[in-house]
Amino acid sequence: MKTKLLVMLALVMMLAAIAACAPAPTPVPTAPAPTPVPTAPPPTTAPVATAAPQPTKAPEPTKAPEPTKAPAATTAPTVAPTAAPKAALKGDLNMLCILNEEPCAGMKKEFESKFPGVTLNYVRLSAGEGLTRVRNEKANPQFDLMYGGPNSTYLAAKKEGLLEAYKSPNVGNIIDPKLMLDSDPVPTWAGIYMGSLGFATNEEYLKKNPTFKAPTSFDDLIKPEMKGLISIAHPASSGTAYTFMCSALQLKGEKAGWDYLTKFAQNVSIWTKSGIAPIQSAGKGETQVGIVFSHDIIAGIESGQPLKLTFPAEGTGYEVGAMAIVKGAKNLDNAKGWYDWLLEPATQELPPKYKAYQGPTAKGAKASKPELLQVKFMNYDFDYCGNNQKAFVDKFSNEIAAASLAK
Ligand code: G6P
Repeated sequence: MKTKLLVMLALVMMLAAIAACAPAPTPVPTAPAPTPVPTAPPPTTAPVATAAPQPTKAPEPTKAPEPTKAPAATTAPTVAPTAAPKAALKGDLNMLCILNEEPCAGMKKEFESKFPGVTLNYVRLSAGEGLTRVRNEKANPQFDLMYGGPNSTYLAAKKEGLLEAYKSPNVGNIIDPKLMLDSDPVPTWAGIYMGSLGFATNEEYLKKNPTFKAPTSFDDLIKPEMKGLISIAHPASSGTAYTFMCSALQLKGEKAGWDYLTKFAQNVSIWTKSGIAPIQSAGKGETQVGIVFSHDIIAGIESGQPLKLTFPAEGTGYEVGAMAIVKGAKNLDNAKGWYDWLLEPATQELPPKYKAYQGPTAKGAKASKPELLQVKFMNYDFDYCGNNQKAFVDKFSNEIAAASLAK
């Protein structure tokens, strides 16, 4: 009996030993762990490829989650989808540039380095001049695209059938489409920046004349002590000046607004062609107060002009700067390429490199001078100003500016 038991015990122990030597299945589930590694490559670039040969190393999976944070909609790559096909663009793009010379040249350089197959040719004109030119060329358009200038110019151009409708895949980037995008289902223009009107007063004149105060209201501009001290562009040529004029007509009401403008014109000694020119005349002391967009006043101060920036306390006029494709554009794909590119947040951060400090309209783009858009704004009706632009400018030219120049 004892020996039988011993034999059976020995048998059981042998079987247990055999079982213990069999390959253990449990470690197998650890094998799938390297799979997170392939998810790492998309967000980053070349360096990930070099890391790939070591998928067997355990620490990799713990690193993998990090890259998912990077592309989290904070930066430009989220709108990259348009970039790939656009890289193939080639030929010319003929642009009417309604910004200042420095950003026109700077943005040409940026565009051409992004799209090396395209040569961008531009002509710089003020908004009113540009509109006249596009109107005159309606039968045989020379420009593919209009870039910059207040949207009243674009509303006026749309009304005359001068613009090509285009719905960019990037319109979804626009912060406030109600304000910053043409309301047509396929829009004719898109807002690309915001700017507020300001007053620029010569600092030296302020020091020498302690009783004279820099203007802080529209009414200050028509006071007798302002006589002959103001410079502003002519609203027929300039979008800046038209924005001022349409602000006054709305703040005062149309009838009182025209009376106001008549008085105002008596205090103007220099009417310039371009909106920013009063910065020079007020900076040099040829005149003492210039009426200009505040971002241009800041650019003037940065370039050494002795100017003080003030705003009207009742609320200032402002612009939604825009762009549009010209109807009959000969280089339509390139114009669309520009349009899409301009609606990317990263692109809207480029103009400040060239002293164009307007606020951006694309979500995620950082404003270079946010304080200029934190001032009190008047209730500005863009449709009213756009739809009446031609009539208002004609009335102003015939009845007010002519009399003021003749004085
Ligand atoms: C400024 C404004 C633009 C304006 C441009 C040219 O920078 O932000 O919207 O149109 O200058 O202005 P102008 O008054 O000459 O048309």
